[in-house]
Amino acid sequence: MKDTLIKIEEEVAACQACQLCKTRTNTVPGYGSSQADVMFIGEAPGKNEDLQGKPFIGAAGKVLDGLLASINLKREDVFIANVVKCRPPLNRDPLPEEVAACADFLQRQVTLIRPKIIILLGRHAMDRFIPGLKISLDHGKPKRKDGNVYFPIYHPAATIYNRALIEELQKDFKKIPKIIDMIEKEKDQLRG
Ligand code: URA
Repeated sequence: MKDTLIKIEEEVAACQACQLCKTRTNTVPGYGSSQADVMFIGEAPGKNEDLQGKPFIGAAGKVLDGLLASINLKREDVFIANVVKCRPPLNRDPLPEEVAACADFLQRQVTLIRPKIIILLGRHAMDRFIPGLKISLDHGKPKRKDGNVYFPIYHPAATIYNRALIEELQKDFKKIPKIIDMIEKEKDQLRG
């Protein structure tokens, strides 16, 4: 049967592959356009996301909305997901087995959406797709891997605790449309 984003959502809602299913209120499968050029991947749902079943709707989400607006994008234009789809208790870091339990769901979403660029929000998302890097050194530098373009940047929540990071994040965000332009030009050249 053909895979779809709705099918993934239904499977996530029924998932009991790790212990996070015991403490979640709602699963947070991801939200946005199946046609998105830009896909964002965060770490894990927090309290508000767990209550409402949607990603990035708390304080970090407000920061993300401001950044999206700065490059003329709305949530409806992009797709936003997380490395894990259920809230870790007390917002602790997701455990390796929890990341592994969600890996296939996230990979299927990437495969279906086929975004031009995958924005990795913070260390956990970066480690999941392009491990071995350091966010403080590698943020704002696009990386190609397995036919995808990844763009690691600081997590919006990091700017709430460290105001100095907001400028870095704003600068990196401004690069997104330019990188997409470059990718499109490359494709045009390959087509001739
Ligand atoms: N932080 C994340 O990484 N994801 C969310 O959905 C909310 C906050």
